[in-house]
Amino acid sequence: MKMLAYRFQALARYYFRKMTFRATNYPTRLFSLTRQTKTIEFLKTTDCQVIAEIGVYMGATSTEFAKFLNGRGELHLFDFEDNVLEVTRRLNEMGYHNVIGHGNSRKIMDSYNWSLMKMIQAHKEPVFDYVFVDGAHSWAVDALAFFLTDKLLKPGGYIDFDDYDWTFKDFCFPPFRKMYTREQIETPQVGLLIDLLVKRDPHYTEVTQNKIFQKNRE
Ligand SMILES: C[S@@+](CC[C@H](N)C(=O)[O-])C[C@H]1O[C@@H](n2cnc3c(N)ncnc32)[C@H](O)[C@@H]1O
Repeated sequence: MKMLAYRFQALARYYFRKMTFRATNYPTRLFSLTRQTKTIEFLKTTDCQVIAEIGVYMGATSTEFAKFLNGRGELHLFDFEDNVLEVTRRLNEMGYHNVIGHGNSRKIMDSYNWSLMKMIQAHKEPVFDYVFVDGAHSWAVDALAFFLTDKLLKPGGYIDFDDYDWTFKDFCFPPFRKMYTREQIETPQVGLLIDLLVKRDPHYTEVTQNKIFQKNRE
């Protein structure tokens, strides 16, 4: 009996620790590994040399960005630290050494917005030619990400959003039901941010419908 109680306590401790350390506001595993064909095809028509990817997951698109740059310029990757370290390591192994990782923790209120703040702190002038935004897909995180990215994007540069129509209801991750209202789960939040913030901003011109926008050259 004593042995059983001990085992139960050990199991409870294991799961408590596991839940505490893995607590996250975003799933650690996704099902999609899609390559962003539209993004890469468009990028090939430009001479962008400093690219940022916000939300890299396993690096399918990061790899395409690295191939496009082919050692020139810089590729900045933003995501949770574990993802960034893994993708950066893999790209380095492939011979791409122009990759700069910006990882953040999995604390509930942490995001790439903290890393973007640090970049603004470190650079008085805009640094990016191209920013691909494919992260949290939420108004709460990405409306601020747009504001911060705008400070870092050069005039004439591009901001590219994935998933204009995507909603949280397309995705089975139970914590989302605690984090968002039903209205927020059913509303495409990237679409909201594009319609209300980007399209209404006179400094931006739409170049690919609901996706790629160019920052005007003043
Ligand atoms: C759709 S995936 C990115 C896919 C990737 N761009 C590609 O094309 O393969 C979204 C990414 O956003 C990241 N993300 C979501 N919320 C985040 C947060 N609060 N902080 C950092 N990264 C976050 C996730 O870890 C995930 O890797």
